[in-house]
Amino acid sequence: MKDQDVKKSVPGSSMIEVDGVVYEFSVKGSPEMQMVALQSVLMVLSNEMKIERDIAVIFLLMGSLATISYPLALLGLPLYVVVGFVVASVVTYVRELMSDAHRPPVAGPMINQLINFKRLFDYQITLARKYRTYRLITDSHSEVYTADPLNVEYILKTNFPNYGKGEYNCDIMKDLFGDGIFAVDGKKWRHQRKLASYEFSAKVLRDFSSNVFRTNAAKLALKVYKEALANREMDLQDLLMKSAMDTMFKVGFGVDLDTLSGSDETSNQFIKAFDDSNVIVYRRYVDVFWKVKRFLNIGLERNLKDNIKVIDDFVYKLIRRKREQMRYEEVSMSKNNLPGAKEDILSRFLMESEKDEEMTDKYLRDIILSFLIAGKDSSANTLAWFFYMLCKHPLIQEKVLLEVKLATEVTDQLSVDEFVHRLTEATLDRMQYLHAALTETLRLYPAVPVDGKNSNEDDVLPDGHKIKKGDGISYMPYAMGRMTYIWGEDAEEFRPGRWLENGVFKAKALSNSLPFRWDLEFAYTQMKIIASTLLFFYGFKLIDDKRDATYRTMFTLHMDKGLILFISRCVIWADGRHQAKRENRWCRPESKTLHFLELNQPML
Ligand code: HEM
Repeated sequence: MKDQDVKKSVPGSSMIEVDGVVYEFSVKGSPEMQMVALQSVLMVLSNEMKIERDIAVIFLLMGSLATISYPLALLGLPLYVVVGFVVASVVTYVRELMSDAHRPPVAGPMINQLINFKRLFDYQITLARKYRTYRLITDSHSEVYTADPLNVEYILKTNFPNYGKGEYNCDIMKDLFGDGIFAVDGKKWRHQRKLASYEFSAKVLRDFSSNVFRTNAAKLALKVYKEALANREMDLQDLLMKSAMDTMFKVGFGVDLDTLSGSDETSNQFIKAFDDSNVIVYRRYVDVFWKVKRFLNIGLERNLKDNIKVIDDFVYKLIRRKREQMRYEEVSMSKNNLPGAKEDILSRFLMESEKDEEMTDKYLRDIILSFLIAGKDSSANTLAWFFYMLCKHPLIQEKVLLEVKLATEVTDQLSVDEFVHRLTEATLDRMQYLHAALTETLRLYPAVPVDGKNSNEDDVLPDGHKIKKGDGISYMPYAMGRMTYIWGEDAEEFRPGRWLENGVFKAKALSNSLPFRWDLEFAYTQMKIIASTLLFFYGFKLIDDKRDATYRTMFTLHMDKGLILFISRCVIWADGRHQAKRENRWCRPESKTLHFLELNQPML
């Protein structure tokens, strides 16, 4: 740049020339304003220079440090930070090791979890076998982990008020979930918990959701059929996730998203933004720099911000449309004197919002998004592990099928739609073995593998270990399911019979102690409808039954690399009506066209 040719228009500003064009910029005001200004300069620079903005940020920071003549600081600072961090950690670690005898035993530094992140829940099993309750040490506090059922009951029930989410967890969740139930404690949490318990026990919502479950189970069964017919390998987990999204959306907002068909572009964008945001938020637990990245609006944090915008646009539009629709219905209802059924959760909360001015559109958005994440992944993941277990145990698959046939009393050929209408509350109640098999799946593959809380005050757990105010405290359902001291020598075996007494499902003390009953009731109805429909019409077999499925470490127990299956028995065929003809035909989707073989031919 030829300095003599150009003049600064603002004192203290700087200039830069790119491809012959001179840009002038100055940065003033609060640090936030400065950052916004810097970002817009970087935007111009990165666009003009065709480089990633993140790289531009690094260059700019380095450059600004250099221009203010602190090259030594640049070299010394990281070293100082690392050494300071290590010394602080070692001092805390040694101090904690030597601390009061009644504290839970120290199993290592917290960083061990990061090192074992990919197989985190197995790492927790190893430790839980050694100590029922243990601590991992961070430079600021202890994270306590327990697999002791008495401690779990104490945290979740007996002294529940002492164990909230805490600032640390809420901070991580806030950007995506706002004031939704996953990101708040205290008054707002109690408000939503009460609302949920009340709403989910309302007959209108229960009937509406059961209808949605049935309709979507039929859609899923037909989708599975099409996949088999097209001779495609099927990722059943993916189909279950899409179907669960459609279900939660219909129950949550009263809207058909139809992710399963994938035909609506706006819905697809919303789902992608929502799923990606969840993954990014979970990564914050292991990325110590996430706040810096958020401040600089770079990397995954920038993606999160963009995704949240997509989510917000979609959800706020829905809320506005729903308000208008309700107003319109009210007018036409008063004209026609007809009662209107506000069935979905959003409509019910909107009615509530008319009595409660704290329930703004923003609060409604936050509430609904928390329900969506809680309800969508948990039941879909559980069903994926359930089908995986049934493939690994074909006799149990047959036994569940037998029970489904007996409970539904289906003796003739039925279409899928006819079949799902038989799945009434009474019919589902008769499926005790299925209930036990789902519960056994949840024991070994719990939808929430680790659940973390924070202690508000000093306390003593039932096993005598002292908890300090500010300690993190987590219970580990995944590890607990495999402990012989809880379940006996066959703890790792998949044995639904352990939940039955004289053929009737009997909950164990531990599962009874969990206070959150309504969500499981809702989930079981949904899972039983889907499981019985799919098992009635198809048999499932793993593409590779030598391979053991593993999980992807995140909030819910997601199966890594999907659940790739083929249909080993098929009782629907394409005669236009999708009739079911049980047991007398087998299909072989791995061949070029779908063949139907007589029953007496060997099973594939
Ligand atoms: C197999 C299915 C499910 C399992 C195993 C499951 C399990 C859990 C667990 C362990 C928690 C944490 C409880 C606590 O820390 O106090 C939880 C919280 C929650 N669940 Fe579920 N859940 C399932 C399905 C659902 C469904 C279908 C919904 C929604 C319709 C739902 C809504 C919620 C909500 C809103 C919370 C947050 C409660 C809070 O923070 O207090 N869950 N669930």
